[in-house]
Amino acid sequence: MKADALTSQVHQFWNKASCDTHIAAADKFTKSYFEEIETYRYYDQPFIHKFAQFSRYRGKEVLEIGFGAGTDFIQWLRAGAVATGIDLTEEALANLQARIQVYGLPEPRQLVVGSAENLPFPNASFDLVYSFGVLHHCADTQRALGEAVRVLRPGGQLKIMLYNRHSILALNTWVKHALAKGQPWKSLAWCLWNHVESTGTKGYTKKEIINMLGDFGISRIAIDTEVTSADTLAAQAVPPLNAFFRLLIYLAGVSYPWQRSFYDRGAGARITSSAVNSTGGSALGFFHCISGVKK
Ligand SMILES: C[S@@+](CC[C@H](N)C(=O)[O-])C[C@H]1O[C@@H](n2cnc3c(N)ncnc32)[C@H](O)[C@@H]1O
Repeated sequence: MKADALTSQVHQFWNKASCDTHIAAADKFTKSYFEEIETYRYYDQPFIHKFAQFSRYRGKEVLEIGFGAGTDFIQWLRAGAVATGIDLTEEALANLQARIQVYGLPEPRQLVVGSAENLPFPNASFDLVYSFGVLHHCADTQRALGEAVRVLRPGGQLKIMLYNRHSILALNTWVKHALAKGQPWKSLAWCLWNHVESTGTKGYTKKEIINMLGDFGISRIAIDTEVTSADTLAAQAVPPLNAFFRLLIYLAGVSYPWQRSFYDRGAGARITSSAVNSTGGSALGFFHCISGVKK
């Protein structure tokens, strides 16, 4: 598939609904709607705070690529960062603009609808480039990575989350869409591309990430791989294999209490912060939380 056609499919997918917004039961763009989304997100992915460390970027120039519904983006604003955002979809922009207004947050420097593969920003203009769960959806991920590094200042930090191809979630997708359909020769990469979120989703091994980022001049690369609710819920999805996937999660050393019932519409309203308790960092997790420094 040509890159433009793929980008157009990716746009169509994410423009229907930004990430996490399906969870909200309240009317769209009300304060309750955004509260539900935020409660849900940091219940579901509490390690984001550890990874992003929002409060350390007060007064710093931050670029977020693929801000989606803007849950992380508003943390930059709350922390006093000079924040710029770009996302492929108009839906994401509408969510974020409404959110800023509802909470009366400081205005960002710039919000743009555009592509990570062609960032409309000068070289070396940001102290931090942050992108969570986005670049693996780009038609040309290498090019998007190159762009992220181009706009970073020397000494600036890159923080990105990319999916792990060798994860419990990817293996489960393979069981459902390859093995169970009599096509065990289909690869994990094929499963992610065709069956995880927008068409064209990719997943990477740690080694591939270190090589890619090294080629772009990123040093001091740290990868913290997290077993997520996606991995855990996959272990509740295929009954004959649930015990096997639970064993994998146990062996991965994870004891996070995710339950399928928390992921229905209205989840954000039900989840209380006292339910949150996490251990993370496992080779089999779906999320590689990656940080590094531009040379
Ligand atoms: C899985 S969502 C993640 C959103 C947000 N970072 C979060 O964690 O909730 C993926 C986002 O990436 C955006 N996206 C996909 N391809 C993109 C591209 N080429 N350029 C910019 N944004 C893109 C989508 O519009 C969508 O908002």
